[in-house]
Amino acid sequence: MKLKKIKVNNEFFSIYFNKGVFMPTATTDFLIKDFLKKNYKIKNKKILDLGCGSGIISIILADKIKNNTFFASDISNKAVMCSKRNFLNFKINGEVKKGNMLKPWSNYKFDYIINDVSGISSSLAKKSKWFKNVPALTGADGTSLTLSVIKNSIKFLKNKGCLYLPLISLSNEKKIIDIAKKYFKKIKIISKNYWFLPVDLEKHTTLLNKLKKKNNINFEYKFGKYVCYTKVLELKKN
Ligand SMILES: C[S@@+](CC[C@H](N)C(=O)[O-])C[C@H]1O[C@@H](n2cnc3c(N)ncnc32)[C@H](O)[C@@H]1O
Repeated sequence: MKLKKIKVNNEFFSIYFNKGVFMPTATTDFLIKDFLKKNYKIKNKKILDLGCGSGIISIILADKIKNNTFFASDISNKAVMCSKRNFLNFKINGEVKKGNMLKPWSNYKFDYIINDVSGISSSLAKKSKWFKNVPALTGADGTSLTLSVIKNSIKFLKNKGCLYLPLISLSNEKKIIDIAKKYFKKIKIISKNYWFLPVDLEKHTTLLNKLKKKNNINFEYKFGKYVCYTKVLELKKN
């Protein structure tokens, strides 16, 4: 495990990482920024960081909103080891567990769940540096893990609880929104943020066009670049 200085939410933090642990991306930033925008005054709340990787979302939130408890989990052993070390290092009040999806949290209820489990087309994840040795059994349209979280999180949320998740255009957006509407009372898109596809994925033109044709992903081709986006969704239980 190595300490790395990384920039998240416009600030530098020294975080423990291991090979095979997800390095935060722009989507990490969007989730943090939007969660803080909506919840900057919260206290005494239980917050679940699902698909925690290095634990970065809990680390930044714990620094900005005091007196809350953070719970973090991931299916990857390496990610859990890093998160545990980072929780200790940053003296974060809470606990870290290893496990598939929401399984580690039976009998727990949260005020907020921030879902960041892998959420792009598995065909692209396999080719991407982002997901080198990082689990991403997401299906060709990138939705299988996200849909499972949406369907199951209601019972892990307290009354008035809220689920936050990124909707990445490298997945089937409509499928996710349709299921979210079925399971949650109120749905809000907090932000839509554009970004360019990284160079390592740009070269897979045939695959990108094939996935887009099947509505598995979405992008625009502009300025000689693939333009993608992440929307941040807020789903309220009641
Ligand atoms: C996009 S990364 C996000 C990591 C971290 N939140 C960040 O922003 O750096 C997705 C994470 O989901 C985890 N993951 C993938 N499948 C999972 C599953 N079935 N259950 C729990 N976590 C999973 C991966 O190991 C990875 O750490």
